[in-house]
Amino acid sequence: MPAIAIIGAQWGDEGKGKATDLLGGDVDYVVKFNGGNNAGHTVVIPQPDGSNEKYALHLLPSGILTPGVTPVIGNGVVIDLQVLFEEIDGLNARGVDTSLLRVSANAHVIADYNRQLDKVNERFLGSRKIGTTGRGIGPTYADKINRIGIRIQDLFDEKILRAKVEGALELKNQLLTKVYNRRGFTVDAVVEDLLSYAERLAPMVCDTALLLNQGLDKGEVVLLEAGQATLLDVDHGTYPFVTSSSATSGGACTGSGIPPMRLDQVIGIVKAYTTRVGEGPFPTELLDESGEFLRENGFEFGTTTGRPRRCGWYDAVIARYAARINGVTDFVLTKLDVLTGLEQIPVCVAYDVDGVRHDEMPVNQSDFHHAEPVYEYLPGWSEDISGARILADLPANAQAYVRRVEELSGARMSVIGVGPGRHESVVVHDLLKR
Ligand code: GDP
Ligand code: IMO
Ligand code: MG
Repeated sequence: MPAIAIIGAQWGDEGKGKATDLLGGDVDYVVKFNGGNNAGHTVVIPQPDGSNEKYALHLLPSGILTPGVTPVIGNGVVIDLQVLFEEIDGLNARGVDTSLLRVSANAHVIADYNRQLDKVNERFLGSRKIGTTGRGIGPTYADKINRIGIRIQDLFDEKILRAKVEGALELKNQLLTKVYNRRGFTVDAVVEDLLSYAERLAPMVCDTALLLNQGLDKGEVVLLEAGQATLLDVDHGTYPFVTSSSATSGGACTGSGIPPMRLDQVIGIVKAYTTRVGEGPFPTELLDESGEFLRENGFEFGTTTGRPRRCGWYDAVIARYAARINGVTDFVLTKLDVLTGLEQIPVCVAYDVDGVRHDEMPVNQSDFHHAEPVYEYLPGWSEDISGARILADLPANAQAYVRRVEELSGARMSVIGVGPGRHESVVVHDLLKR
C-alpha cells in the first residue's frame, strides 16, 4: 500500500488537521515530518451525543485523535519536550489514548537557549523581523544544519549529551551575552532539563523510518502530514519570510525516511481564499472591509499565537506553483462556506509587475513583493452551503467557483470543505480510492 502526503498549498492554516482527521479512519500511521510546535491544527470531532469536541494540536500529528492509528513524530521534526508532554497529558485528560505514539531517535530537540535566541533574534531584527512563532524553530534547525544540534537519542547517554550541550553553549552563550546582552545558560541546567524527560520518552523512541517502511511492506497505509506550507518552505517559499524546514512533499520523504517512489499520492490543502500569519509578501492581501469579512467569517485567528491572520482572495498563481512543486494529485479546497454572502468573488489569475504580466511566480522575489494581482470576478451565492455533501448540493455559482479555481490551479478539487466539522465536506473524488 502507498504512502500519502498531505501538504499546505499556501502560507499555512489551510485546514490540514481537518483533512488528516477525515482520512484517519482509513490509515495505519500518521506522521509529522517537519516543523515543531509552531504548527497549530484545529480538529473538530463529532460526539455520539451530537455535540462537537474541538482539539488544538501543535506538536502531535492530528492522527493521534483517531483510535488505532499509530502517530509518529519523524526525524525531520524539532521537538520541545515540555510541550510534547503537556500535549500528551492534555489529551489523556480528555480521554484520548496516546500510547501508540512513536518518536524518531534522530529528531532534534528544541533546547531552552534556542527558544530564547528565537525571541531575541526577532527583537534584534526590528523592522526586518520574520514574525516567527517564537518557539525556537529557526535556531534549532540552524543548529541541525550547523551540526551542533541535540538529538532525541542523545538524551539516553548523559556523557554524549553533556559534551554536545557544552559545545553548543560555547557558541550560544557568546551570542546571548556579548551580542544580545542577555544572561547565558549553564551546561548543568540545560542537561538537567533535557534529562528530566528521558525516562518517560524512552519507550516511545525507535527507528521510525524502519517502522514505517516495514508497515508499507506489509500493505499498511502511511499518511504524512505537513506542518506549515509550500510558501513557508525554506527552499520554495517566500524566503526569508518562511519557516526553517521543508514543508513540501520532498520534505515528507527526507523528514520520514520514506523514499520518493513509495509516495503514491500528494494531497494539497488549499483555502478558498488566502491567509498568512507573520511578515512577508502577500499579493492578494486585503486591508479593507473585505479582509475583515474573511477574518470574521473564517475565524482567522492563529491556533498557536492567537494573532489575527492576514486575509486575501484566492491566488491561483501560488496554487499552481504548489501543485507543481509538490506534485499535487488532489486538492482539498477548504472553507468555501466562508465566501457565502459575497456578491462577487475575485480570483487572482496572474500578476502585473511594472506593466508586465506574470502567469507564474516571478523568478525574482523583489518582483513578487510588488506584484499586483490580475483578477477575474466570479459571481457569488447567498445560500447556506454547510449541509452540502455532493457537488450537486452546491448552488450553481458555488459549483462554478470550484470548477474555475480547479481549471486555474493545476490539479483536481477532490474534496470541498463547507464547515469545520469532520463530515462538513463535499466529496467529489474519494481521496483514498484512485
Ligand atoms: P492547519 O494548520 O492547516 O491544520 O489549519 P488550522 O487548523 O490552523 O486552521 C484551519 C481552521 O479552519 C480550523 O479552525 C478548522 O477547524 C477550520 N476549517 C477547516 N476546514 C474548514 C471548512 O471547510 N470550513 C470552515 N468554516 N472551517 C474550516
Ligand atoms: P500550520 O502547520 C501559519 C509562520 C510564522 C512566521 C514564519 C516563521 O498551523 O499551518 P517560525 O516560528 O516557524 O520560525 O515562523 O512562519 N508559521 C506559520 N504560519 N501556519 C503555521 O503552521 C505556521 N508555522 C509557522 O507566523 O511567519
Ligand atoms: Mg494552523
